[in-house]
Amino acid sequence: MNVEAIVPAAGLGLRLKAALPNRQAGIPKPLVKIADKPILIYTLCVLSRIKSIKRIILAVNKEYLDNFREVLKRFPLKKRIDLVLGGASRRESVENCLKTIDSAANIILVHDAVRPFVSKDLIDRLLKEARVSPAVISGVPVKATIKSVKVSKCQGVKEGCMVEKTLNRDNLWEIQTPQVFRRELLLEAYEKYRNPAVTDDASLVEKLGVKVKVVRGSYFNIKITTPEDLVFAKTIVKSFPLRKRS
Ligand code: C5P
Repeated sequence: MNVEAIVPAAGLGLRLKAALPNRQAGIPKPLVKIADKPILIYTLCVLSRIKSIKRIILAVNKEYLDNFREVLKRFPLKKRIDLVLGGASRRESVENCLKTIDSAANIILVHDAVRPFVSKDLIDRLLKEARVSPAVISGVPVKATIKSVKVSKCQGVKEGCMVEKTLNRDNLWEIQTPQVFRRELLLEAYEKYRNPAVTDDASLVEKLGVKVKVVRGSYFNIKITTPEDLVFAKTIVKSFPLRKRS
């Protein structure tokens, strides 16, 4: 198995920014520190431990290219990491990485930079399943009650919402990254579907009519998005050693 990993890290993390102390507020979310390391380094350390991953392609914001270079120099990893300029959307950032995929790679793994608590065990299970399934993603059963709502807006501002219906939780899973695809499949999906608002890669592959397999992930594998997530992340680092996060 010849795997290349794409790590989109070019978002600006505007939903987190306001809550950060001054010295961290000017840097993109993947470079924000939890304890002694930037979020991105936790993520890359786990990916670096996977033997079949030959190279990591990291999409970064042009304005912060030097900051990313500096961090990678300060925390050297035993894996080839190539920087690519990201785009205006996550989709565009991943697409820019796809343009550099090696023709020898048969599998592409995509993982968001801001999910630092992904485990080696989860990646191993996804890659094992990828031997028989063309598209494999991680997810966890939804724990909350989920309702579909109609949001009303006044001059573009969300004003409130009314319940339309309650969804059957038994059929709902919260989808995470990593997501793993046969190379030609992901390239075809990105070539065909160009909606910049997509939030994961599997949704493009689903449109091709391909069956996507979900492997059970971990509730520790959170996406750091809002200030609360940073509080949870600090607790995870402090209270749960790596081996207990699967
Ligand atoms: O915005 P969201 O938290 O869903 O972003 C998921 C991942 O996509 C993050 O790691 C972020 O850095 C990345 N991203 C990107 N380029 C963008 C927007 C987001 O690489 N233009």
